[in-house]
Amino acid sequence: MNWLPILKQCSQKIRKDALPFYNTPNASITFGRGAGGDQMKKIDLIAEKAIIETLEQNNCSCTLISEETGIKQIGTPPHEYYLTTDPIDGTTNATRGIPFINTSLAISKTPNLQTIQTALVTDLLHNITYTAQKNKGARKNNKKIQPSMMTTLKEAVVGIDFNTYKIKQIADQLNPVLQKTRHLRHLGANALELCYVADGTTDAFIDIRGKLRVTDIAAAYLIIKEAGAIMLTPKGEEINVPLTPTQKVSFVATANTTLYETIKKLLA
Ligand code: IPD
Ligand code: CA
Repeated sequence: MNWLPILKQCSQKIRKDALPFYNTPNASITFGRGAGGDQMKKIDLIAEKAIIETLEQNNCSCTLISEETGIKQIGTPPHEYYLTTDPIDGTTNATRGIPFINTSLAISKTPNLQTIQTALVTDLLHNITYTAQKNKGARKNNKKIQPSMMTTLKEAVVGIDFNTYKIKQIADQLNPVLQKTRHLRHLGANALELCYVADGTTDAFIDIRGKLRVTDIAAAYLIIKEAGAIMLTPKGEEINVPLTPTQKVSFVATANTTLYETIKKLLA
């Protein structure tokens, strides 16, 4: 089954239904905690509804694994596929009018990150879509992408997620990397930041907080890998985790092995 056209339809419906809430007071009306543990905001729920409606209109059958609703069966059995999603990544950006938000949609036949076979991340405000299919490469608006050739940390543009109350626990570990990096960024929607590594816009993205949900990065994971970039745990292992709404991940994503090894040594 070719899921890509359906995922594209989902992301266009999210743009149509959820973007009118971007940077409006209504976007942040809250509805209690979602399956992933965060407060669900109106804009998140509208986006999730857009996904479910699109799947139903297309008579799709799958198990939805979502940051908001959690696990939900869509369509009639057998539910052969899993659709792992973060309907809106960058909710704070969306409520404050910072133009960096995305949706993430990933298809697999088992609920494990390593088995993702089709992935889509759409930069919602700029209508830029990153896609990947297993063994077929990664694309940005249908054009093949590849990561940068940057190998020096000093010149590299490096994203680091510092967004945690427990910064003390990771500050010492990050310090050697910070001391060697001139161009640091954190843009606030981690899947899109990973796509920036995949297409060479930036050179690395690090999140070692241990609090990012796998739902946020499931799609970007395949996009990074298919683009030829690196995404491993900070210790150099494959990220082998189940796809559930509460599963957390830590990782270092880089344009190439040289940059990965440099960062890994500094974090050790
Ligand atoms: C958030 C963003 C942000 C990261 C947070 C995530 P959300 O996703 O990716 O950059 O620092 O940890 O929760 O909550 O907007 O989907
Ligand atoms: Ca989200």
